[in-house]
Amino acid sequence: MLNLDYNLNSMRKKIVAGNWKMNKTAEEAVALVKELSSILATEFKGDSTILVCVPFPYLTTMKELVKDTSISVGAQNCSQFDWGAYTGETSAPMLASIKIDHVILGHSERRQYFGEDGKTIAAKVDAALKYGITPLFCCGEQLEVREAGKHFDLVRQQVAEGLFHLNAESIQKVVIAYEPVWAIGTGKTASAAQAQEMHALIRQQLAGQYGKAVADAIKILYGGSVKADNAAELFSCADVDGGLVGGASLKAREFAEIVKAAR
Ligand code: PGA
Repeated sequence: MLNLDYNLNSMRKKIVAGNWKMNKTAEEAVALVKELSSILATEFKGDSTILVCVPFPYLTTMKELVKDTSISVGAQNCSQFDWGAYTGETSAPMLASIKIDHVILGHSERRQYFGEDGKTIAAKVDAALKYGITPLFCCGEQLEVREAGKHFDLVRQQVAEGLFHLNAESIQKVVIAYEPVWAIGTGKTASAAQAQEMHALIRQQLAGQYGKAVADAIKILYGGSVKADNAAELFSCADVDGGLVGGASLKAREFAEIVKAAR
């Protein structure tokens, strides 16, 4: 019998995105990308989108370095404002002007340490889309929330607050990343079943708002302690369209193996 879920999943091209966070000197960053691109040049045969989301100061150098490779470069944040007196901020039109086409938005570390709320993140999503940049919109619950059995409600709320002001055309330009906070940087990965359960719920929520065809077109990545040895199982789930990878993206061999696990 035809496995419909599998077919839909395989229609969505996978994305494997590295989130370097605030790590690496310029020299180390260059060495990492060079090593990664040389491994992938000989070993990567797939068609997934491979992204490295690097700190702002390295964006242009990295873009230049990956020019003839299968790797693309993304940013880790952008302002909700376009221009003006916002000391220390980097805006979406700035990123667009150096041809950056992906940006992580609403990461739990931004929500937790920099007070980003749903409204701010929604405005950042708008700013990115206005300049043709694909937002990697993050959502996910803390451990206490899961233990209280409120994880589905919280993630639904984050998705609605951050994205449901968009019309059906715009929402398809967004990539969602489900990242349970208790799994980020802890070595504690959600099981494939836990990831699939939440991804299916998000897709169902999208279908309720925008219809099934739109929901089926939207990519939902999993993030939280993705490693070379758990990536294949996570990525094989029907509603998991790749991963957002923190710690393991800082080692070329480990990240390359994760990339290779996405098919
Ligand atoms: P981790 O981070 O892979 O180190 O858990 C993921 C993320 O924060 O995007």
